[in-house]
Amino acid sequence: MHLETEHSDLQFASVHNNAVTPCEQSRVLRAAFEDRGQESCPEFRMMDKILFLNACIRPCSRTLELAEALLQRLQGDIREVRLQEASFSALDLDGMEKRHRAAQNQDFSDALFDAAKQFADADILVIAAPYWDLMFPAVLKTYLENVTVSGITFYYSEQGRPQSRCRAKQLYYVTTAGGFIGQNDFGFSYIKALAQNFFGITEIHRYAAEGLDVFGADVEEILRKTKLEMMAQFEENV
Ligand SMILES: Cc1cc2nc3c(=O)[nH]c(=O)nc-3n(C[C@H](O)[C@H](O)[C@H](O)COP(=O)(O)O)c2cc1C
Repeated sequence: MHLETEHSDLQFASVHNNAVTPCEQSRVLRAAFEDRGQESCPEFRMMDKILFLNACIRPCSRTLELAEALLQRLQGDIREVRLQEASFSALDLDGMEKRHRAAQNQDFSDALFDAAKQFADADILVIAAPYWDLMFPAVLKTYLENVTVSGITFYYSEQGRPQSRCRAKQLYYVTTAGGFIGQNDFGFSYIKALAQNFFGITEIHRYAAEGLDVFGADVEEILRKTKLEMMAQFEENV
């Protein structure tokens, strides 16, 4: 019963896709996700935990629009972290010392480690990040520094190799670019290497819409086609 309710929330959002602007659509979907967050029945808790890392900065982000189309297809309990609004700090000396002490005492109860625990506990990771300076916005790197914590999301083997402590086996990376990315998605390459080497994530997918800021670009059409391609690839992968 609860699963149906949840599904219909998203159908409601989907039905309205054509009638509202991407920004309004975003709000409808957000309401659906937030409602999901308050759900507490046991069936719901058994669903996959989807951690949605939203590194979109602009209010009418095209990257967010694509990511939301993907999230409508994924089945599970979606938790969104809006990185622009979150208060993560870059790792400094004080933070390093706290990590060191926590690891020595095997006590990661400080709230500083909550994000890493949430990350380790997710079944599926979805990252939405616009293509900035051949990479992604700095808020995403800051977040990753906060969750790449030895003792929580990974540990070092006796041979000094990182070993995963994460549940996730799937990661989806969604981006949009003003120009054309070609071989230069260094942000995705980095995320992929980190996910494989530290977090043991084996299934990694990337979806990108490009050329959105090129003079004369039909942005709606590019996004529409990218969503169709994304859904086709998604169906192939499941
Ligand atoms: C700070 C900044 C850096 C950018 N760097 C690039 C870039 O290196 N290459 C490119 O093709 N587009 C670049 N763009 C354009 C964005 O990739 C493009 O507008 C993208 O669709 C923005 O995503 P959004 O609509 O989700 O905000 C940049 C935009 C900004 C604001």
